[in-house]
Amino acid sequence: MRIAVTGANSSVGQNLLTHIANKAAISANAGVRSKSSFRQLPNSELINPCVINYDDQASLAACFKDVDCVVHLAGILIESKLSNYASANVAATSSVVQAAQKAGVKHLVFISVIGASTASSNSYFKSKGDAESLVTDSGIGASVLRTPILMGVGTAGASSLLGAASQAKAKVLGGGNYSMRPLDVDDLTQAILTCCESRSKEAETYELVGPEPIKYRDLIARTAELLGSKVVISSIPIIMAKIGATLSRLLKGGGITSTVIDVITRDEIVAENADTKLGLDLTPLQATLEKIIRNK
Ligand SMILES: NC(=O)c1ccc[n+]([C@@H]2O[C@H](COP(=O)([O-])OP(=O)(O)OC[C@H]3O[C@@H](n4cnc5c(N)ncnc54)[C@H](OP(=O)(O)O)[C@@H]3O)[C@@H](O)[C@H]2O)c1
Repeated sequence: MRIAVTGANSSVGQNLLTHIANKAAISANAGVRSKSSFRQLPNSELINPCVINYDDQASLAACFKDVDCVVHLAGILIESKLSNYASANVAATSSVVQAAQKAGVKHLVFISVIGASTASSNSYFKSKGDAESLVTDSGIGASVLRTPILMGVGTAGASSLLGAASQAKAKVLGGGNYSMRPLDVDDLTQAILTCCESRSKEAETYELVGPEPIKYRDLIARTAELLGSKVVISSIPIIMAKIGATLSRLLKGGGITSTVIDVITRDEIVAENADTKLGLDLTPLQATLEKIIRNK
């Protein structure tokens, strides 16, 4: 099987491609936005790096040529002066779908988020919902994987967690009193490969979360314990954080916003975990934490 990956230098992309580099049965075209990102990709004859530009259909067509499945990973949570939800999450997905249709790709995999909805009043969740619709309405067989916070080498979630757990005193949003379902990136990689291998002609949406619900404050304390330290957790009131974020955005542009704060502090709840449907044996949270500490 040959696949193409967009946003190949993302933390999920690097994990997926590292698995593929060790698996002779699969090869990948790894799409990134600039040649300088090639160094973030595994060096393997099974990985073919290519430069893609989401405004240039020819560059996407070259990357998607003769592949069985496209895994679309490019996307952002934090907007910047150069990148916003409309361009990174929606327009980029629209270009990928168009190029995949032209190239006759048999299956698309899209990584979305728990909470994504076209009807959401939160502009991040709405952009992911709109992108999902582009994928599921494309006429191409598709798997949309809605995920919670991801834990693994290089993920933003793991960096923040290790940062907070390494301090004697950590100040976190709302005292970390929100519930998470951290998912091991290795498990997400397995799910992506299963969806690619299925090459289903249907469009399916899966909500895939980690095996154990946990409050963020408890996750920090548990990680600190594994690090052999102790952390005192105090609260940044959410309203204060939002005021600070609004002022900072006005002064500097981009960065953390009220939208992002609402995403981070939302309870990650799903009606039915897709692990069984996808044939996954989820990594226990304890093992995931030990892994990120070992590789920090
Ligand atoms: N990390 C999580 O906890 C989490 C949770 C739920 C869903 N997801 C989704 O999973 C996917 C991968 O996440 P990740 O955390 O691994 O990503 P990441 O490491 O933050 O990487 C983001 C990727 O998006 C690309 N990108 C940024 N702005 C772009 C734009 N305007 N147009 C096109 N591409 C752009 C980046 O390319 P450059 O390097 O060239 O900027 C990079 O390849 C994303 O779609 C994300 O929304 C992640």
